Amino acid sequence: MGKISFCGLIVLVIIINGCCFERGVAVTVSYDHRAIVIDGHRRVLLSGSIHYPRSTPEVWPELIRKSKEGGLDVIETYVFWNYHEPVKGQYYFEGRFDLVKFVKTVQEAGLFVHLRIGPYACAEWNYGGFPLWLHFIPRIQFRTTNTPFKIEMELFLTKIVNMMKEEKLFASQGGPIILAQVENEYGNIQWAYGIGGDLYVQWAAKTALSLNTTVPWVMCVQNDAPDPVINTCNGFYCDEFTPNSPSKPKMWTENYVGWFLAFGYAHPFRPDEDLAFAVTRFFGKGGTFQNYYMYFGGTNFGRTAGGPLVATSYDYDAPIDEYGFIRQPKWGHLRDLHRAIKQCERYLVSSDPIFKKLGVNLEAHIYYKSPNNCAAFLSNVDKLLDANVTFNGRTYNLPAWSVSILPDCKNVVYNTAKGWSLVSNFEEVVKCQYSVIVKPGERKEVFLSVESLGHAALIFVNNKVVGFSYGNHDNANFTFNKKIKLKQGNNSVALLSMMIGLQVGLEGEYLGLDKSSLANSSLWTSGMDLPINETLIWYKTSFIAPEGNGPLSLNLASMGKGQVWVNGQSIGRYWSAYLAPSTGCNNSCDYRGSYDASKCLKNCGQPAQILYHVPRSWVHSGENLLVLHEEIGGDPSKISVLTRTDQEICSLVSESDPPAVDSWKPNSEVMSAIPEVRLSCEQGRHVSSINFASFGTPTGQCGKLSHGLCYAQNVLQIVQEACIGREHCSVPVSTTLLGDPCPGVLKSLAVEALCTPQ
Ligand SMILES: *[C@@H]1O[C@H](CO)[C@@H](O)[C@H](O)[C@H]1NC(C)=O
Ligand SMILES: *[C@@H]1O[C@H](CO)[C@@H](O)[C@H](O)[C@H]1NC(C)=O
Ligand SMILES: *[C@@H]1O[C@H](CO)[C@@H](O)[C@H](O)[C@H]1NC(C)=O
Ligand SMILES: *[C@@H]1O[C@H](CO)[C@@H](O)[C@H](O)[C@H]1NC(C)=O
Ligand SMILES: *[C@@H]1O[C@H](CO)[C@@H](O)[C@H](O)[C@H]1NC(C)=O
Ligand SMILES: *[C@@H]1O[C@H](CO)[C@@H](O)[C@H](O)[C@H]1NC(C)=O
Ligand SMILES: *[C@@H]1O[C@H](CO)[C@@H](O)[C@H](O)[C@H]1NC(C)=O
Repeated sequence: MGKISFCGLIVLVIIINGCCFERGVAVTVSYDHRAIVIDGHRRVLLSGSIHYPRSTPEVWPELIRKSKEGGLDVIETYVFWNYHEPVKGQYYFEGRFDLVKFVKTVQEAGLFVHLRIGPYACAEWNYGGFPLWLHFIPRIQFRTTNTPFKIEMELFLTKIVNMMKEEKLFASQGGPIILAQVENEYGNIQWAYGIGGDLYVQWAAKTALSLNTTVPWVMCVQNDAPDPVINTCNGFYCDEFTPNSPSKPKMWTENYVGWFLAFGYAHPFRPDEDLAFAVTRFFGKGGTFQNYYMYFGGTNFGRTAGGPLVATSYDYDAPIDEYGFIRQPKWGHLRDLHRAIKQCERYLVSSDPIFKKLGVNLEAHIYYKSPNNCAAFLSNVDKLLDANVTFNGRTYNLPAWSVSILPDCKNVVYNTAKGWSLVSNFEEVVKCQYSVIVKPGERKEVFLSVESLGHAALIFVNNKVVGFSYGNHDNANFTFNKKIKLKQGNNSVALLSMMIGLQVGLEGEYLGLDKSSLANSSLWTSGMDLPINETLIWYKTSFIAPEGNGPLSLNLASMGKGQVWVNGQSIGRYWSAYLAPSTGCNNSCDYRGSYDASKCLKNCGQPAQILYHVPRSWVHSGENLLVLHEEIGGDPSKISVLTRTDQEICSLVSESDPPAVDSWKPNSEVMSAIPEVRLSCEQGRHVSSINFASFGTPTGQCGKLSHGLCYAQNVLQIVQEACIGREHCSVPVSTTLLGDPCPGVLKSLAVEALCTPQ
């Protein structure tokens, strides 16, 4: 009966903690059992991963601003060794790899940084972040107690730490870095290294500590992390996790907001209700630091994608999408959650929660400051059954698989299930050539069988393609079997074996075909007819970019598989011809019950990716050079360049939903007692049309809402009057304003709107 709690006029004062730090002021960072302690203040911290090379420096400020508006305190990033030290001893920190600039950009926004130096990153990144040259050091063995490896690892760790120190970027120097990570999820594979692995963990911790960063070090997924290094949790849920010492805070370094995409797979997504549930359970059960992996995923430009077969888009179903747009309802739902958690901060950091069972699958976790002063988290962990629970003499409605937050132990300000406010490369790694001699009278048909440990291969007989075969992300190796015809005499059989996720390069790149300087070279031939459906061919053309400042994308649906460059910048690999399996998808995935990466999939039977992100800063006015290397055959005449201008937003709020906070009015301290539908466009856009509005019992989801059996008249007009032409607007979910089409029935207001640039 959440409804009762909201009758009358409840005026809550929201305490917005001075977010987040004053620039340039030196602070100490330590920790205790309950929290990371910054300058003597115990803090509950909300963090999000943004990997700097997965976007361009031009958009970093915008991404970080949206992260801050979304309620984050901390930005977490890995450091990518292989791109920073492409050749031993030769460092690179320019452009997208300008780590110092990135950290300073976060600092300018007033957020903290968690710097995960590793130097092993994994991250679906090329070779997990290790430089290829490392592989060729004699007697080297990665990630174990091996001297050649330890020497290189220590050199790089020291290099990065010293760089940060020189720029005064650690908190004790007035900088934003409050945490650092050494190694990465080593606990998952440590067993394979035996005692060498255990010693390596000790060594890694000792080496990190000796660098004297003055901020705490963490090791994620590392139960034996030696003191004072904090062991942290990664996973879809971490509420059950406990650190290896009571002197350490409970931290979650990777909460997967979705999952990465691989060529040949459907799109994984994670319902925001389940994500919010996981976060709220974690904070309800003693958590103090939580990081979204990823808050913004971005793009695997060039050959940065790891293998096997990781796609070029690293969107991750993150709260900020690959193109830098806010993803609703996820972003808004989490923003409201962050507000609610911050309202409980002073309780969370002062005690351990007291557990109280309220019924089957019904739980309360209560944080007391004093006997009558508390914050509570009420959970219903049942996968199917909604429930009404009684807590402190009041009744609360808890939908299945949801948690309600009561910052004063009385009023629900947020429920995780409601409130959705709306708010190759193919790279020539191996080319093998064989000859088969067919003597007169011999059989000319033979069975060719290729067992490949590579990821894909083109098979040629007498210089003609007879097959193209490939594996998938889970099993990259494959077998190719085919009957082939041979001619009399000397036949050639050639295999072009390709890896997707290892850096090598194409001959054309060494020649410079991808660069503007060779755009008019005689290496290119031109004829009347554009060759289509050809294997191993380079194409070039020029295009005029659509106007505006928004990001662009190339639609490569007509192409097969290959790589693409714009003005010499590598957009990445494409593989439009590889379709995802046609079954296993469900667009309306039930958020209730445990999530895993294969639970919620969409886009079955489609290519994993046909749109490829071109950052706006990579194009200019006038002609832009587009170069493609196609490997298996496509039709470049059908390529188009798109831009995104319109943004659809949507909101569905029920009469019984808690009143939520106006995030776009940062100074607003009072929230109204009546739930509201709030619409908020991206900066520089305004609501240009209301595509749908219904008050009553609307059904469906954002993008496909429809009227239910009961709906009020004139609602569209009311919403239009309140919103058209505005960047932000709100409409109270009240029968006084909207009328009552079905008295006694719990009603909702659903709105879908379009935002367009001003
Ligand atoms: C570490 O830093 C502290 C405080 O800045 C300093 O006193 C100490 O000498 C440093 N130790 C090393 C090994 O650099
Ligand atoms: C909760 O209580 C309300 C009001 O009494 C009732 O309509 C609803 O069916 C109850 N829900 C459950 C799950 O018992
Ligand atoms: C791929 O390799 C795995 C492990 O070596 C093996 O079990 C599997 O049979 C191979 N698959 C193919 C298609 O060769
Ligand atoms: C067959 O052709 C290959 C490639 O042209 C050549 O290297 C090889 O010597 C030839 N073999 C014979 C028996 O002619
Ligand atoms: C290539 O030649 C065309 C036509 O002469 C010219 O407009 C264009 O600027 C040249 N492109 C480059 C990159 O030199
Ligand atoms: C390209 O080749 C495929 C398979 O050989 C064929 O089905 C298709 O029709 C061809 N497309 C064009 C445009 O020639
Ligand atoms: C898709 O999910 C909805 C909601 O959980 C469920 O009702 C439906 O049966 C599912 N459909 C398929 C094909 O799995």
